[in-house]
Amino acid sequence: MIQTARRKLFIALISATLLTMALVWVVVALNTRDESAIETEPASFIATLSTASSEQQLARGAYLARVGNCASCHTQPGGAAYAGGVAIDTPFGAIYAGNLTPDIKTGLGTWNTSHFWRAMHNGRSKDGHLLYPAFPYPQMTIVTRADSDAIFLYLRSLPAVEQPNKAHALRWPYNTQAALALWRAMFFKPARYQTQPDKSALWNRGSYLIEGLAHCAACHAPRNALGAITADSPLSGGSLLVDKWFAPSLLHIDEASVANWSDAEVVKLLQAGVAKHGSVNGAMAKVVFGSTQYLTAEDLQSMANYLKTLPVLNKQSVQFEPAEKDVMLRGGRIYEQHCANCHGDTGEGVAGVYPSLHANRAVNMQNTNNLIRIIVEGGFAPVTEKNPRPYGMPPMGHVLSDRDIADVLTFVRQSFQNHAAILSELEVMQARD
Ligand code: HEC
Ligand code: HEC
Ligand code: HEC
Repeated sequence: MIQTARRKLFIALISATLLTMALVWVVVALNTRDESAIETEPASFIATLSTASSEQQLARGAYLARVGNCASCHTQPGGAAYAGGVAIDTPFGAIYAGNLTPDIKTGLGTWNTSHFWRAMHNGRSKDGHLLYPAFPYPQMTIVTRADSDAIFLYLRSLPAVEQPNKAHALRWPYNTQAALALWRAMFFKPARYQTQPDKSALWNRGSYLIEGLAHCAACHAPRNALGAITADSPLSGGSLLVDKWFAPSLLHIDEASVANWSDAEVVKLLQAGVAKHGSVNGAMAKVVFGSTQYLTAEDLQSMANYLKTLPVLNKQSVQFEPAEKDVMLRGGRIYEQHCANCHGDTGEGVAGVYPSLHANRAVNMQNTNNLIRIIVEGGFAPVTEKNPRPYGMPPMGHVLSDRDIADVLTFVRQSFQNHAAILSELEVMQARD
């Protein structure tokens, strides 16, 4: 009896092991596709660098590292440049960005350009282990080999810093390579930029940068429960909060579409952090601060060109319900006391200093997370060369209660030509934690 039970258990174990091995093999096989084909490059609108002197290539690498905002994740505040240690918080746990300096023991000291290209293009580390897509390689995969090599050359020129990488703090099963392999088999394919021959060189350049190295979709794309981007339009609005901020849709006219803006205003937003119809805050302020303010006029122009040709989606219809009279009265009093000084008695603002709240997109947005964040944390546009002393809005999270914030924002959302839904105390409470 015991003998047969044991034998059955043994057979079951063997089959389970074989099955697991087969699954792992399939997943690994799926993950290794396309690696052999990495040598061929698309005929490129991007100047090839093979003939450029290494000094030019170095400068270009430094520039491209700006485009990719590598430092924002790979440099700790106050820490050594590119030595890693920053935690990227995800719903699955924290993932730490590693040391990219040329240190032999703890950095990329023993890497060559092919290892580096494989990391950028295929999301694998030098020893072949799979990398987490918190490193935005699902976007950066389209970077050209020439651009990847230039970035690597730049990283090699940095001082080597000995700083061991921190271990990721992920929950089971997300902390296993098998789970990651499965995720990649389902959601990731190494890709090359496909030049659209019917579009201008400018448009193609913008598309290459925005979809690739600048990884705008990393924040602006909707994600499924496994954190993967599966939508047809990867810029149609974030679904994870990044540093507690919501990245609105770049397609929706009532969110962050710039289809109606002039090219110059788009360039200005990305360069200075403020433009006629908007300013950047929170996670987007970091993008402008660390990356887009440094881009050349041509590259910014190309981004504007591309952004303005994205499909335009119209306002989502909202059921409008006017707020109770006493909420409006209470909100109005708080506005007078805490806001009118800067934004004006009738919300008109002061041109170039305090934004007008009239028919304001940020005020009317259906997702109210950022609106609440601005009141709680304050509004700070980034310090940029074009806007060295931005006007800020002081944080008021400690002065105003959840109810105060709900009431004043409801008042603003239903005054000054704004026509948006009531904002509840519960929404404020949720956005606060
Ligand atoms: C949004 C944050 C973020 C940005 C931006 C970012 N990285 Fe990373 N990077 C990470 C994280 C997180 C990891 C760790 C992934 C892992 O260990 O699975 C990582 C890992 C890497 C690795 C693999 C290191 C190793 O030891 O295996 C390389 C190489 C790398 N990044 C290069 C870059 C470059 C170059 C840029 C800019 C062009 C960049 N990263 C931009 C977050 C980021
Ligand atoms: C780290 C996350 C993140 C990345 C990466 C990111 N964004 Fe954003 N973006 C945000 C958030 C959050 C907001 C909302 C706050 C705001 O309006 O500034 C935003 C807002 C915007 C807006 C609307 C600004 C306004 O005033 O209406 C535009 C346009 C925009 N982003 C373009 C881009 C482009 C282009 C890229 C790539 C170069 C990009 N974003 C990359 C997070 C991000
Ligand atoms: C000291 C002056 C000051 C006060 C007081 C102030 N604000 Fe602001 N507010 C600003 C500035 C400056 C900005 C632009 C910040 C930025 O660009 O990041 C701003 C931005 C905003 C925005 C975003 C507008 C947009 O177009 O992105 C809203 C909404 C807002 N304020 C509402 C309020 C409300 C409601 C109050 C009162 C509870 C208030 N503000 C109090 C100065 C102020």
